[in-house]
Amino acid sequence: MSIEFETLRGTLEKKPPVRLQVQDLCVTYKSARGPMKAISGVSFDVEPGSNFGLVGESGCGKSTVVKSLMRLLPASATTSGKVLLDGNDVLAMNRQQLSRVRWAQIALITQSAMNSLDPVFTVGDQIVESIRAHADVKHAVAWARAEELFAMVGLPPERLKEFPHQFSGGMRQRAVIAMAFSLNAGLLLADEPTTALDPIMQDQIMSRIRDIQKRLHRSMVLVTHDIAVVSETCERVAIMYAGRIVETGPTHDVLNKAYHPYTMGLQNAFPKVVAKGEKKPPLISISGGVPDLANPPAGCQFAPRCPFATAQCRAEEPMLRTAGNSLVACHHMERATEFRRAALKAETWRVEETLQ
Ligand SMILES: Nc1ncnc2c1ncn2[C@@H]1O[C@H](COP(=O)(O)OP(=O)(O)O)[C@@H](O)[C@H]1O
Ligand code: SF4
Ligand SMILES: [Mg+2]
Repeated sequence: MSIEFETLRGTLEKKPPVRLQVQDLCVTYKSARGPMKAISGVSFDVEPGSNFGLVGESGCGKSTVVKSLMRLLPASATTSGKVLLDGNDVLAMNRQQLSRVRWAQIALITQSAMNSLDPVFTVGDQIVESIRAHADVKHAVAWARAEELFAMVGLPPERLKEFPHQFSGGMRQRAVIAMAFSLNAGLLLADEPTTALDPIMQDQIMSRIRDIQKRLHRSMVLVTHDIAVVSETCERVAIMYAGRIVETGPTHDVLNKAYHPYTMGLQNAFPKVVAKGEKKPPLISISGGVPDLANPPAGCQFAPRCPFATAQCRAEEPMLRTAGNSLVACHHMERATEFRRAALKAETWRVEETLQ
């Protein structure tokens, strides 16, 4: 397939990939039970043209991070810190600056395609409108680009004339991906883009996104709870827990030489890819749930579920420190080799039976 994006020239052509720097991002939601600190001091960089993974259980704050990058949080949220797009702070932009940046520079794919498509317009008209809202081009030119985009995501161009309800779930998600690429944004935010789909469709769509990212050399933040997808897609990864980054570094290092017990626990909870003939290790889940952010525990947020927690862990919050090629927030990361061995055993994760 030769999709070289030649239909639209000028501003949409050859946009360079974006460098994203998130610095000390904090988000607090107002809630009936008082302020809820959903994000606490999150910092990470995405190099131009690279893929960055954000991983963690549901409720860890991944979507809140993504929404704050686009300033899509509800009015009940207070945000501080910096979100620099090639050095320009999105959090400090006025409405006009923001509308120039959204979709043209940062595009978003969410897990629910239905929310991104308007049921009363054909999918083609919606893509064309989104292109023409940002680029001064004739309808026919925008339509030709929509056809290219459909081909790119593996949809027949004639289906552009159909309405969202005429599409299957997988096709709608592909259409949303096509729309996200319509303005050739330098940064793509993909928040669990395949969660709503069946496993075969998930694989197909993820490989399609990977392929397009590579070909167009865009930057991407990929949110997922699937470690296997991150290892195939992202050069760097951050593991989030209770609104904080607890471990971050090159994906290969974080997944093969984890220093944080939460990272080790997450890996146990996911089916591993093993060599032919090798036995798959049993899945082990981390008992307990994420902490109540309106009433967080003292010290390390993971301590109530961590098999290795000590009195220090329950009293002092660990800061990120360097460990190998990664940054890790654990008081006892020097004992990582011992933890890695212990973490493979199911009995280790029965926290109530562990000597603490
Ligand atoms: N609009 C909101 N108002 C209040 N709390 C919210 C809102 N959106 C998310 N939260 C809370 O913030 C925390 C992080 O949520 P979220 O960012 O959706 O996590 P994730 O995407 O990792 O599942 C959760 O405790 C969630 O309940
Ligand atoms: S700081 Fe303590 S409780 Fe937190 S992850 Fe490390 S060992 Fe576990
Ligand atoms: Mg989410």
